[in-house]
Amino acid sequence: MKDLRNANAIVTGASRGIGAHIARALASSGVNVAVAARSPRQLEAVRAELAALGVKAIAIRADITVPAERQDLAERAAAELGPVDILVNNAAAERFSRYTDLDATQIEAMVCLNLTAPLLLIQAVLPGMLDRGKGHIVNLSSASGTVATPFNAVYSATKFALVGVTHSLRAEHLGSPVGFSVVCPGFVSEDGMYARYQAQGLRRAPLLVGTTTPRKVASAVLRAIREDRAQIMVNSPPARPTAVLQAAAPQVMPRLLKQVGLTSMVARAAEMRRTSAVQ
Ligand SMILES: NC(=O)c1ccc[n+]([C@@H]2O[C@H](COP(=O)([O-])OP(=O)(O)OC[C@H]3O[C@@H](n4cnc5c(N)ncnc54)[C@H](OP(=O)(O)O)[C@@H]3O)[C@@H](O)[C@H]2O)c1
Repeated sequence: MKDLRNANAIVTGASRGIGAHIARALASSGVNVAVAARSPRQLEAVRAELAALGVKAIAIRADITVPAERQDLAERAAAELGPVDILVNNAAAERFSRYTDLDATQIEAMVCLNLTAPLLLIQAVLPGMLDRGKGHIVNLSSASGTVATPFNAVYSATKFALVGVTHSLRAEHLGSPVGFSVVCPGFVSEDGMYARYQAQGLRRAPLLVGTTTPRKVASAVLRAIREDRAQIMVNSPPARPTAVLQAAAPQVMPRLLKQVGLTSMVARAAEMRRTSAVQ
């Protein structure tokens, strides 16, 4: 989609963190935005900011793991803004932890939020996009969707899955005017889930996996839509060869991640999470 002006978008997880930055970037390009999340007050603050940029902006309180609320989100966005042209599947949760410390409920909840909900939101909006011959879906994955990070099995699984979902849909809809992109940020400083660990004293991510900023992630989302990019890694340069190495020689990765200090960093994050220093 080259011209974003007056397009209508849904951004999930836009009450704070990276989602709010993505919503602002879209609104700054003239896109009308429905921001969705569970926290009404934070959502309303973001909505007001977007409306001040001169676009239509609505706040829809929705827990996207609840089928009726997910359906309501898709229906209200279309009713109040108009046909949905852009879906940004951004909402997700991460829970650094020893895998054996997670219970079944926690695993299922994370898979539902990070993977099932995006899949079903795509189903809710894609038929309309295909009928109208216009639309773009952006899935927020992660560097953990290209390099399997320890103490992060469920999150990594869902983020690898979103890469697969995106490329499968691109192949299925090759030649269609509807586009699909996946954006894979490294650790994001300043705002969002990783910044909360940093604020509690977690040391900087090692060079190999790299870091980025919410603003760079938001502009990558816009670039993905405008240029119909298949996949954008938003990260410092050493992360790219690392992703290639993961695919070509997965047997070397655990030792490499340990050597560069990534394993000890995420083990510390898991400990912070276990002792409730970070939610
Ligand atoms: N931060 C990083 O370092 C980083 C790195 C790579 C990729 N990413 C990806 O970037 C995206 C955004 O991450 P972030 O760091 O901005 O996360 P965040 O600060 O934790 O924000 C998560 C957002 O999702 C919403 N959310 C959570 N559960 C929800 C639910 N059940 N239904 C609806 N909304 C829900 C939250 O709002 P409510 O609590 O109000 O519902 C919030 O708006 C995620 O996909 C993440 O995997 C982040």
